[in-house]
Amino acid sequence: MPNYQKPWAEPYKIKVVEPLKVTDQAYRTEKIKEAGYNTFLLRSEDVYIDLLTDSGTNAMSDYQWAGMMLGDEAYAGSKNYYHLEEKVQSCYGYKYLVPTHQGRGAEHLLSQCMIKPNQFVAGNMYFTTTRLHQELAGGIFVDVIIDEAHDPSVILPFKGNIDIQKYEDLIKREGPEKIAYITVGAPVNMAGGQPVSMANMKEVSEISKKHGIKVILDATRNMENAYMIQQREDGYKNKTVAEIHKEFCSYSDAATMSAKKDLLVNIGGFVACNDWDLFEELRNMVVIYEGLHTYGGLAGRDMEAMARGIEEAVMDENIKCRVEQVAYFGDKLHKAGIPVVLPIGGHAVFLDARRFYEHIPQIDFPAQVLAADLYEVSGVRAMERGIVSAGRNAKTGDHNFPKLELVRLTVPRRVYTQAHLDVAAYAVEELYEKRHEAKGLNLKYEPKYLRFFQAKFEKKD
Ligand code: F0G
Repeated sequence: MPNYQKPWAEPYKIKVVEPLKVTDQAYRTEKIKEAGYNTFLLRSEDVYIDLLTDSGTNAMSDYQWAGMMLGDEAYAGSKNYYHLEEKVQSCYGYKYLVPTHQGRGAEHLLSQCMIKPNQFVAGNMYFTTTRLHQELAGGIFVDVIIDEAHDPSVILPFKGNIDIQKYEDLIKREGPEKIAYITVGAPVNMAGGQPVSMANMKEVSEISKKHGIKVILDATRNMENAYMIQQREDGYKNKTVAEIHKEFCSYSDAATMSAKKDLLVNIGGFVACNDWDLFEELRNMVVIYEGLHTYGGLAGRDMEAMARGIEEAVMDENIKCRVEQVAYFGDKLHKAGIPVVLPIGGHAVFLDARRFYEHIPQIDFPAQVLAADLYEVSGVRAMERGIVSAGRNAKTGDHNFPKLELVRLTVPRRVYTQAHLDVAAYAVEELYEKRHEAKGLNLKYEPKYLRFFQAKFEKKD
């Protein structure tokens, strides 16, 4: 027997490939300048390894592609809707399903149905689109995540947990009737993909029930959360990801979902719930903004790919491969001395731009600079998750200054090999060696909502 640990490999092989374009640095210097130093404004064809997001960038399986041919494109009552409904009921456990074109479609409907003006919405750190929809519905977002989540170097197994004290204080201070609901994101994207424990979710559910407050799960990457529970929480080692996932969902009243992540598709989402009255409202609202309640802005074939994606996403070997590939990438960077958010999250490795570019103050957008520089030196595309993403205070109009100033290297599912991640890690290390040369940016153009998508910058002298 060889004297090293038995190797482990992806539970799939590659059938179709897509060529990558390699460009030189002079070309990329031009392109990132044209893009206003915003990686969202680059053309994908100018990117070598695209770690912008894991959203809609997944490789579908042959089983999903075969399902695409079975799309029932009827306006009403498509059989793919019923297949999806059956899978959501059996794997997530919710009774009622309303499909939407993607996650923010679901957030829009739910926020409009559940928030009255000036009500508070509690949540474990904000997510950009989620918070905006809550605010547009008149809600006031309150972050009730544990303090440690805002510190990139604290190592905790469940760094996405709700701070029960903060949540109870909010209920006491404002009164339960002033709280529209609590959103639990699991894992927490903006905190670095940090998971929430089952025990914490259970406690949140019990407290909420006692006060008559609804618990809404952002189930976008909940399979990753379930895998991390299996690996880290007492009592779950011998349970399947499918079982853990369903138990987690059972502590919530409803869920919004961006299927573009966990469900291994390129487009899709849904909102699901157990309460008939809420379902009726959602079903009524979806026809205004998305489409009929049996397609919600999607083609029948997209719903079929989602239904089949659920089957694949809950399989232990698939989710293990996904999370462990990200861990491999993160460990490599961490061991090389690069400041990253610890522990490594489920979907991405987050560079700590504050420590990477120590000499650039937050007001000069260090994470924005880092994402732009990484593209320039290597063609690897990442995403800013710092002051630009945090936007402005809805009331005062000032910048929000988040504690976390991060760059996210997000790993799409089943798309890149270990070799691609080695190349990306090398590029980050190269950049780190010349970190002292980096300069801040000035904000040149800023759209009103979700500014990180379209803002433009220029280099400081
Ligand atoms: N919730 C979470 C936790 C998300 O990460 C996202 C999207 C959404 C909701 C919204 O879903 O994009 O389908 O409308 N996150 C993407 C990302 C954009 O890159 O992290 P959507």
